Amino acid sequence: MRIVNVPLGRRSYVINVGAGLLDTVGRECGRALLGKRCAIISDSKVAPLFGRQVKVSLGRAGFESEMVVVPAGETSKSVKWVEKCYDELAAHRLERKSFIVALGGGVVGDLAGFVAATYLRGIPFVQVPTTLLAQVDSSVGGKVGVNLKAGKNLVGAFHQPRLVLCDLDTLRTLPMREYRSGLAEVIKYGIIYDAELFEELERKMEKLVRRESKVLAGVIARCCEIKAEVVAQDETESGLRAILNFGHTIGHALEAISNYGKYLHGEAISIGQVAAAKLSGEILGLPQRDVERIGNLFNRAGLPTNIALNQGQRKKLFAAMKLDKKVSAGEIKFVLARRIGEVEFGQKVSSSLLQQALNSSHARR
Ligand SMILES: NC(=O)c1ccc[n+]([C@@H]2O[C@H](COP(=O)([O-])OP(=O)(O)OC[C@H]3O[C@@H](n4cnc5c(N)ncnc54)[C@H](O)[C@@H]3O)[C@@H](O)[C@H]2O)c1
Ligand SMILES: [Zn+2]
Repeated sequence: MRIVNVPLGRRSYVINVGAGLLDTVGRECGRALLGKRCAIISDSKVAPLFGRQVKVSLGRAGFESEMVVVPAGETSKSVKWVEKCYDELAAHRLERKSFIVALGGGVVGDLAGFVAATYLRGIPFVQVPTTLLAQVDSSVGGKVGVNLKAGKNLVGAFHQPRLVLCDLDTLRTLPMREYRSGLAEVIKYGIIYDAELFEELERKMEKLVRRESKVLAGVIARCCEIKAEVVAQDETESGLRAILNFGHTIGHALEAISNYGKYLHGEAISIGQVAAAKLSGEILGLPQRDVERIGNLFNRAGLPTNIALNQGQRKKLFAAMKLDKKVSAGEIKFVLARRIGEVEFGQKVSSSLLQQALNSSHARR
């Protein structure tokens, strides 16, 4: 097992990464000195797979747990489901010292985390992420929240978990498309922070796609470490944390114009990162060879790297980028790479260059 520390002063916690960790949930919650009662919040796909195992582990360690199951899918990340969760917690008389175990992907983590952040003005919670995306990204860093009709993640809070347990065994049942989508975030960490990780991914991508445990453990732990380092330097996103959004300005806009239907998040940011790499070549002098290495790696992960948009769609895409939360004073700012492993945020990009990057994006495969 690998252990990653997230150093945030009094809010510090550890991330355990390894196989067989579901059976340790009870023991680890005991170590974290959490109260006797808890609720496991999970979704309708994950609860039947792993709910019992977690409940048994908690029971063995002397915890009383209730299971709260929400429908699988993004629509559960809503105020309506927050309220339903509150009602369940109240019905089971969870109190200040009780805690929540978020068992599932990023949807469950964000929803359960937000419920934990606000119920009784905040109770502790533990993340047990079961998708690759949740293990390397959403379960670490303390951003929690839900969507409104007007847009994604518009209501939220910062609430750090007390503990994160990434059980590699849970990834076995993850559909291939979801798994590949998580790889888009994994590759992102290499580009924004760690050239060595990027090279390791170049050497081992096929093994990673096959979900070989040994490779996975090291890679997931490294991604958590990077996210932890970035978050520790900028917990509330006033600066550096923005680098985690590499490829996301275009990616989010693509998700929005396709009504969150056509692309999974990882697929959208794969296209976004390849376009951002091209912009990086134009604006920060990222060598052409590295632009190509980036495109190739996403390709080998089985992710889309290009998109053919007609003029109407392109217009919509630009409008959606301007609506992104990260836009300040109407100006779209990008995270761009100077070299693999080093990025800069707050980069202005002219709309003509942006057009060009998107137009040329289907030239390379
Ligand atoms: N808080 C953050 O910092 C942060 C960061 C990135 C993304 N997010 C959020 O995360 C969400 C996306 O997370 P996601 O990609 O994990 O999606 P998800 O939680 O919807 O999971 C994807 C699908 O896989 C199923 N699933 C989960 N684990 C499984 C397993 N082990 N086996 C089989 N099926 C399984 C789920 O039921 C769901 O149908 C988005 O809402 C996004 O906004 C948050
Ligand atoms: Zn992302």
